[in-house]
Amino acid sequence: MCGIVGYVGSKQAEAVVVEGLRRLEYRGYDSAGIALVHDGELVWDKRAGKLANLDKALAEDALPASSTGIGHTRWATHGAPTDRNAHPHLGATGRVALVHNGIIENFAVLRDELVAQGHEMLSETDTEVAAHLVECALEDGTTLTEAMQAVCGRLAGAFTLVAVDGRDPDRVVAARRNSPLVVGIGDGENFIASDVAAFIEHTRDALELGQDQVVTITRDDVTVTDFEGRPAQAGSYRPYHVDWDLSAAEKGGFDWFMRKEIHEQPGAITDSMLGRHDAAGALQLDELRITEEELRNVDKIILVGCGTANYAGMVAKYAIEHWTRIPCEVELAHEFRYRDPILTRDTLVVAISQSGETADTLMAIRHAREQRSKVLAICNTNGSTIPRESDAVIYTHAGPEIGVASTKGFMTQLVACYLLGLYLAQVRGTKYGDEIAQVVRELEQMPLHVQRLLDAAEQVNQLARELFSARSVLFLGRHTGFPIALEGALKLKELAYIHAEGFAAGELKHGPIALVEDRLPVFCIVPPQGRDHLHDKMVSGIQEVRARGARTIVLAEEGDEEVTPYADDLIRLPRVPTLLQPMVAVVPLQLFACELATRMGNDVDQPRNLAKSVTVE
Ligand code: G6P
Repeated sequence: MCGIVGYVGSKQAEAVVVEGLRRLEYRGYDSAGIALVHDGELVWDKRAGKLANLDKALAEDALPASSTGIGHTRWATHGAPTDRNAHPHLGATGRVALVHNGIIENFAVLRDELVAQGHEMLSETDTEVAAHLVECALEDGTTLTEAMQAVCGRLAGAFTLVAVDGRDPDRVVAARRNSPLVVGIGDGENFIASDVAAFIEHTRDALELGQDQVVTITRDDVTVTDFEGRPAQAGSYRPYHVDWDLSAAEKGGFDWFMRKEIHEQPGAITDSMLGRHDAAGALQLDELRITEEELRNVDKIILVGCGTANYAGMVAKYAIEHWTRIPCEVELAHEFRYRDPILTRDTLVVAISQSGETADTLMAIRHAREQRSKVLAICNTNGSTIPRESDAVIYTHAGPEIGVASTKGFMTQLVACYLLGLYLAQVRGTKYGDEIAQVVRELEQMPLHVQRLLDAAEQVNQLARELFSARSVLFLGRHTGFPIALEGALKLKELAYIHAEGFAAGELKHGPIALVEDRLPVFCIVPPQGRDHLHDKMVSGIQEVRARGARTIVLAEEGDEEVTPYADDLIRLPRVPTLLQPMVAVVPLQLFACELATRMGNDVDQPRNLAKSVTVE
């Protein structure tokens, strides 16, 4: 939520900053702006709307050459998405420019104070207050670094701030509290950004900052301190090498990042399995910094996440309870701490987050750790806050996910959840080694199954074209098909902006069936045949909606002929065990949402009102 870039080096800062913003635009696209230091003063431009508007303005009226600058792409919180509210914001005399991600909670008090001193505020943002304060602090002959340190101590809330001083051409200063910030270390140039994607074409060496730290970059130096100006303790920030390159952050011939990411899923599954089991199928999760003894003592698991990550948690509950018999709860992260959950030392809280920066999830794990529960993160972003503040982490190796709607992130969250469940079963002896090895073998087949579904994408695309004018779509599933029904509906809401709902098929007759009307498209995820009558009950549900005029789009495994008479459209799924079926069932739903939104002319990668990484509560 909001993308931030800072640069000092020998290249043209405008180009570096704007390119960086392009790669961070998934974080927010309500406005974009840039400020450069040129000839002892600041030059800047900022425009409401997508980065393209700023691009156009800069093409018509270029800023002068500069090698030091900052930029911002906004997801609006305080104040409408207008030119005036766009970042950067300037101090009273225009000496300091500052960009911000997060919310300064005490901004109203600070603003009143500044206004009483005669400051004129030009925007409705909380950010402008910080710009004025930093500039005031500079007036006493301090450096920008000292001014930033002094101001951060006065701010409450969550913030990443990045500032430049028009009179100090070789310095960019940033600070962070509860919002993402990474430093890119180059040769004769250094970078600051919300995410490594912003500087990946220049360097893969990064520095992950700790909480409440201020970083100063110059061409040749990076200095980290706390808010009081004391040098940061070794270990409180961490250098690391990014294991993907520029090509992973580009579309590679696809029309959308999302479509590319859907197609990357077979590889992402393989990468997420890599090195996590031995030849015999026994699990080895080396990054798990919780002892086997502690895992044996776990008496309850709570899975927390938001959006798609929450649905991964719902799938995980079915698998983990089945394999380990440990009771699992699944909770939306933003609801979790407010209901005063029962947490003990033997509770394992599993936080699922692609970005590792979702504020709701972060606050949930902080609450859990305060209660002395163990926290394990499932995360796709090295260097992000959630894994850093957890006791253990299983990284998903999906590579960068740029499309706002999660696809390969979700798929690899499922892999990580299954691996965790199997590992717990192994450690606690609730499954035999050969049973675990069998599931591992089935997981290893998943890339092939998913690839086959992708190869048959045209059938789903054709369906999307036919359903182009649908105003409402329902999704039904049972057991692990239920969270996938929810995920299918979420994808459609996010991308096509139409009414879409997922239901547990058994719930249908208790109310939602009243929604069914003639030709309403209903996706039905059919469980594999032959277990607990689950399949047959789902088939009954399909008949019930069809009898009321619905157009049934049935996802059923190959060889399942029982459903054929009730399917207006039949999408075949590879034969896999029920617990693993989400990994195949979700793929046609992702493809459908992507294609339908494309046909509708929507921006698939940057849907309206959304941001990928929601760093405010
Ligand atoms: C936002 C995105 C969703 C995503 C959710 C959780 O709401 O729009 O697509 O599922 O955040 O994100 P996380 O990074 O924590 O997995």
